[in-house]
Amino acid sequence: MTENNNTKDPDTGLKEEEMIAVEDSWSMLYRKEHRKESGVKLFVRLFALYSSAIETFPQFRGSSLEEVGKHPKNPAHAMSVMYALASYVDNLEDAELLVELVKKTSISHIERGVGSREFKWVTEIVPDWLDETLEDECTALMKSSWVKLLNVLVAVMSGEEQNTKA
Ligand code: HEM
Repeated sequence: MTENNNTKDPDTGLKEEEMIAVEDSWSMLYRKEHRKESGVKLFVRLFALYSSAIETFPQFRGSSLEEVGKHPKNPAHAMSVMYALASYVDNLEDAELLVELVKKTSISHIERGVGSREFKWVTEIVPDWLDETLEDECTALMKSSWVKLLNVLVAVMSGEEQNTKA
């Protein structure tokens, strides 16, 4: 738990001001009219930079970036991601619950051959995604706070990968 703006949560490393930056940006990203578009933009960015990510989706295997962009199932994972992120943002102050939620996502992805390497890709594209979707409303603190939050996912996933190997 956090005590003041400068205190880091011991489990997530996020300070109070960083949690607020994530929540403020999320209230814009998750507006009902933008939700699907925001999620789709994140994954189009991911697929453009890392085409091997396309191959992890059975329904997209062998498709070009252009084909995936038009695929009727393209928004489905994007929306699943948005709902999962919403559950994390809702529980930033409850690190124990947050970590449990992230573990569920980690396990379901590891089973599909998606691991910390692929989740790290998301941390790389998130700053540009925030710039693109939030435009003038985007701040440097929002970008660094999201990277920190997503690095929690990467860390939890790495831990789960070790457990799977053990
Ligand atoms: C912020 C990061 C991400 C979140 C929160 C997330 C969340 C989710 C959720 C909630 C689901 C559906 C339910 C489940 O099986 O857990 C899902 C499915 C899936 N995710 Fe992710 N995901 C993320 C990143 C990725 C990345 C980086 C990849 C691949 C490079 C990926 C590949 C997949 C695949 C292949 C499925 C199954 C899709 C299907 O069969 O329809 N995910 N994801």
